[in-house]
Amino acid sequence: MAFNYMTAQEAAEMIKDGDTIGLSGFTAPGTPKVITDALAEKATREHEAGRPFKVNLFTGASTSDHVDGALSRANAINMRAPYQNVPDLRKRINCHDVHYFDRHLSEMAQEMRYGFYGKLDYAIIEAADITPDGEVILGTGVGNVPTYAMMADKIFIELNEALPSSLLGMHDVVLLQDPPYRREIPIYAANDRIGSPVLKIDPSKVVGIVRNNMLDGVKPFTAVDEVSQQIGSNVVRFLVSEYKAGRLPKEFLPLQSGVGNVANAVLYDLGESKELPNFMMYTEVIQDAVLELLKKGKCTFASTCSMTFSDDTERKLFADIDFFHDKILMRPAEISNNPEVIRRLGVIAMNTALEADIFGSVNSTHVLGTKMMNGIGGSGDFTRNAYLSIFSCPSVTKGGMISNIVPMVAHPDHSEHSVDILVTDQGVADLRHKDPEERAKLIIEKCAHPMYKELLWDYMKLGKGGQTPCTLKAAFEFHNAFNETGDMRNAAFGKYC
Ligand code: COA
Repeated sequence: MAFNYMTAQEAAEMIKDGDTIGLSGFTAPGTPKVITDALAEKATREHEAGRPFKVNLFTGASTSDHVDGALSRANAINMRAPYQNVPDLRKRINCHDVHYFDRHLSEMAQEMRYGFYGKLDYAIIEAADITPDGEVILGTGVGNVPTYAMMADKIFIELNEALPSSLLGMHDVVLLQDPPYRREIPIYAANDRIGSPVLKIDPSKVVGIVRNNMLDGVKPFTAVDEVSQQIGSNVVRFLVSEYKAGRLPKEFLPLQSGVGNVANAVLYDLGESKELPNFMMYTEVIQDAVLELLKKGKCTFASTCSMTFSDDTERKLFADIDFFHDKILMRPAEISNNPEVIRRLGVIAMNTALEADIFGSVNSTHVLGTKMMNGIGGSGDFTRNAYLSIFSCPSVTKGGMISNIVPMVAHPDHSEHSVDILVTDQGVADLRHKDPEERAKLIIEKCAHPMYKELLWDYMKLGKGGQTPCTLKAAFEFHNAFNETGDMRNAAFGKYC
């Protein structure tokens, strides 16, 4: 079939106010880049002419400034799911310009197929190549594209000339059957392939192909700071002691690692460890550190949804793609984050918290309980189903004005039932087989910053029994003190005695 090549502006002109769009990709990689920029320009023109223009946007996870940044600045998003991390969008969400709902990433595609979110007008898909009969070589991130491509009435392809067609073979594209016809997912090791190397789409749905030529624009990591370094070495020390104690199998287990500087620091430390064996990853994103670990052979295989590499690392990958070709497999989010597979493989999950409470519950999403930061992402998919779930965060933030260890989290994302190990720069609290009071003592001793320990002990003294010695009227004293004075150290528990 002969496709219709067009400009991004021509594609944007076809999209109407109120349309619902599904995008390929997961984080910036694999996400379209030019049609959304053109759509933001169109929205601005429409608004200046006094006409409404907003679209509903479903993605794989976070995107990039070409999507969430540009469209938010143009106030062109009505509804958005399932994850984001761009400051301009965060502002729109927190003042309800954008109706954002936060979902576990593994659930987004199936819920779209179940019909929970209505019809999809367009899918925009980034591709390294497409054949006339609709076989697409995807880019460096997959996300929910198999479902969006299947459900959308019409498809735009962004053909990215910066992507080598030698990416062919690095994807494992699968579309699950829905209940009651769902069968087991036959992944028994992180490197088992179960699907197709290409995404098959109906070529008659392709209304236009737009060319782009851009890398993903992921920023490189800043040098690892002292706190991240300390957290990283605490996590590795813990894993070594578990391994030596025989609570991890001698072959070791696949790792999942979250995003950000702390996650990158943990992986670098794991790479240096002589005491841990080589390992595989079963995760949703791989960052720069993983490419080095693959090159060194410390990581032998990475199953992921996206290669979230900085541009320099992406160039290194493309220059040496023959070496990495059989060591990385990109899968849709409902496979990379699938609870069945995570539980079967025994994945060790390592995620980051905004704050944790002394009983072990974790807030990953809401600053001071109200303001959305990014979303739950895949943290719930992995944490709830992991062999071992580790959460880490710095003990304090904002120069010590905020303690990340609090009496009660202001927004619970992961309950005490799912969190096994809590790590800060101060130390490691192993919460397994501990009752709530024991957990509280351990977390205060091992994880809280020294400048907050006395305050947390003061809170504990208010407890009047019960299995979980919390005191509801004082539970948010840290947050209240911050809201009123700008510093949690001004918390005072005497008034509750
Ligand atoms: N209260 C208020 N603000 C806090 C805070 C707290 N307890 N803890 C951190 N912050 C602020 C930081 O100061 C920083 O502010 P800034 O942007 O003004 O500098 C910001 O929140 C981000 O903190 P940082 O320590 O840089 O976080 P991070 O990059 O390590 O990300 C999460 C931490 C929790 C936001 C991030 O891991 C996330 O979105 N998690 C959910 C998704 C997920 O876990 N996915 C897992 C699989 S990839």
